[in-house]
Amino acid sequence: ISLKPFNTFGVAVSTSFFAEIFNESDLNELLGESIVKTQPLLVLGGGSNLLFTKDFEGLVIKVSIPGISFDVQGNDVMVTAGAGVVWNDLVNYCVNNGFAGIENLSLIPGTVGASPIQNIGAYGVELKDVFHSCTAREIATANERVFKFEDCGFGYRDSIFKNELKGQYIITSVSFKLSKQAKLNTQYGAIQAELQNRKIDHPTISDISRVVADIRVSKLPDPSTIGNAGSFFKNPVIEQESFEAVYTKFPELVHYPAPGGKVKLAAGWLIEQCGFKGKVVGHTGTWKNQALVLVNHGSATGQEVYSFSEEIINTVYNKFGVALEREVNIL
Ligand code: EPU
Repeated sequence: ISLKPFNTFGVAVSTSFFAEIFNESDLNELLGESIVKTQPLLVLGGGSNLLFTKDFEGLVIKVSIPGISFDVQGNDVMVTAGAGVVWNDLVNYCVNNGFAGIENLSLIPGTVGASPIQNIGAYGVELKDVFHSCTAREIATANERVFKFEDCGFGYRDSIFKNELKGQYIITSVSFKLSKQAKLNTQYGAIQAELQNRKIDHPTISDISRVVADIRVSKLPDPSTIGNAGSFFKNPVIEQESFEAVYTKFPELVHYPAPGGKVKLAAGWLIEQCGFKGKVVGHTGTWKNQALVLVNHGSATGQEVYSFSEEIINTVYNKFGVALEREVNIL
């Protein structure tokens, strides 16, 4: 079974087995099958954060559980969405209903079920800022478990689901704590500039959503036409001391304060400084408007993209002494 339609990089690989689940009873049935115990498993949402470097020898489980519901309590709104809901459909639903909190996360590819796993974030907001809880099934026992905020170990593009509990649970729904009273987050420079540009002094959540979507479209390649998985690397978070060492040599270094007195660097800047921005290498390369995004120009293999990412890591390390880490899951 071809996985090409199921990964936004558009890499042509296949899987031995494939199952799509649309509801809890599908999932119950599937978790009772012996194939779940005998084959390697891969749980798939939108396939927008992974790179296949070879065929998958196992069972791919595509989670397509639909449904959005909400519960208003005063100014608070609890919104719950099935894991298979397309993330941006949830954003639009909330923006249209006047539920504030995720408008800055407009147009992020992928599904609701995948959103807590890497704590998706953009333009000054992270999923953890609005996350209430999620329900998941333990693969080994089929038992349901509810994860509260404090159970999830959220960090920058990180959570317990990528670490201790990796591969053990299938998220079935996620609940978000939103608000009918907008507390807009317009700190991010690019949003501020664009609001000014449009002469919007008192933005609504729809304004923010539209501005963010437009910025993304101008900077990031559309996966439906050019294969990619968004930022390929994380922005490196380094100790103050290491930062000083790089900063003295490169005073233009783009950097932000990070928790714990650390410093976050803009990986896109580091990569661009190494001359990679918009570079085409065989069927792969970096995006012309954002060097942090690797793209498939047509028929790239996962191996080809992976090798190119190695070259970037090595070059950035040799120039800056900073080790880039991949954000995208390599399979
Ligand atoms: N920059 C460059 N050259 C580049 C790219 C960026 O110099 O080729 C500089 C920019 O000029 C800016 C800084 O780097 O000063 C930051 O750039 P940008 O605002 O585009 O954001 P980013 O740090 O590159 C992160 C997220 C994105 C998210 C944006 C906006 C990560 C790994 N990436 O990118 O998330 O959309 O911020 O918040 O944290 C994703 O994870 O897939 C993703 C797209």
